[in-house]
Amino acid sequence: MVKLRGGLAASAVLCLAAALPVQAQGSDPLAVGRKMLAEDNPGELWIERGKKLFHEKRGPKKASLEQCDFGLGPGKLESASVQLPRYFADTDKVQDLESRLLTCMVQLQGFKREDVIKRAISPGGSSGSDVEALALYITSRSNGMKMNVSLNHQKEYDMYKAGEYLFHRRAGQTDFSCVQCHGEANKRIRLQDLIHMTSKEGVQEVVSTWPAYRGAHYVVRTMQWRLYDCFWQMRLPELAYTSDASIALTTYLHYQGNGAVTRVPGFKR
Ligand code: HEC
Repeated sequence: MVKLRGGLAASAVLCLAAALPVQAQGSDPLAVGRKMLAEDNPGELWIERGKKLFHEKRGPKKASLEQCDFGLGPGKLESASVQLPRYFADTDKVQDLESRLLTCMVQLQGFKREDVIKRAISPGGSSGSDVEALALYITSRSNGMKMNVSLNHQKEYDMYKAGEYLFHRRAGQTDFSCVQCHGEANKRIRLQDLIHMTSKEGVQEVVSTWPAYRGAHYVVRTMQWRLYDCFWQMRLPELAYTSDASIALTTYLHYQGNGAVTRVPGFKR
């Protein structure tokens, strides 16, 4: 996996190790700044880039992604992302947006799986990866539409249950679980608000805003990155890109967030 952490990381580790989530005090002055930045979201630029990449003939097979099926038929993007993760018969897997994109880049365009994975999460401050731009473009085609993940297929239900389990289970050297940081209102670590994801409102805010422009990294980030980063914060083994664990968590969160109206790119600090 790409090295995402620079010199600042070391001090962040020290702060985090010492800081258990604490109750936030009073109103949040940072929220004002965030709102101002969100009104002029640089992530918008990635949408055009993703669109171009989607239609361009690329890779060893010189093919576009226009034949990629995100669940509603080849090339049908409107409302596709709000129904992901879902079960795909051709791969016999429950896939999220990024793992499905990876399947298409390999099968249709002939890219090497390891190469796409290696580059999927870009270094901070870079111009971003193709996958980041594509994931944002594809999700943006569902802007204004409601999250609508179903668990009708047995494998979808199993993924959901696995995600629910992973979300609540304590693990690793810090013995953290996701709920310890995200299971209550008004918690924060250092200056970061910890989104309350066991509330309907909180989880809906989350699932409607990824991929998002990450101000601190100057790039668009995806849900795969977000989960990878929280695993890192929990000192768990590195979360492999598009692993079943990541898809289980996304299935759990997206289903919990059903009904949330998509509005990407989100803007995160
Ligand atoms: C040690 C505390 C901690 C734990 C444990 C933790 N996270 Fe996080 N999480 C954070 C922080 C900090 C942020 C980012 C807040 C920010 O950047 O403003 C975050 C953000 C997120 C977001 C994005 C929220 C948004 O703004 O849209 C998601 C999704 C998420 N975490 C999922 C998880 C999952 C799933 C787990 C368990 C595998 C987990 N987190 C465990 C601290 C934690």
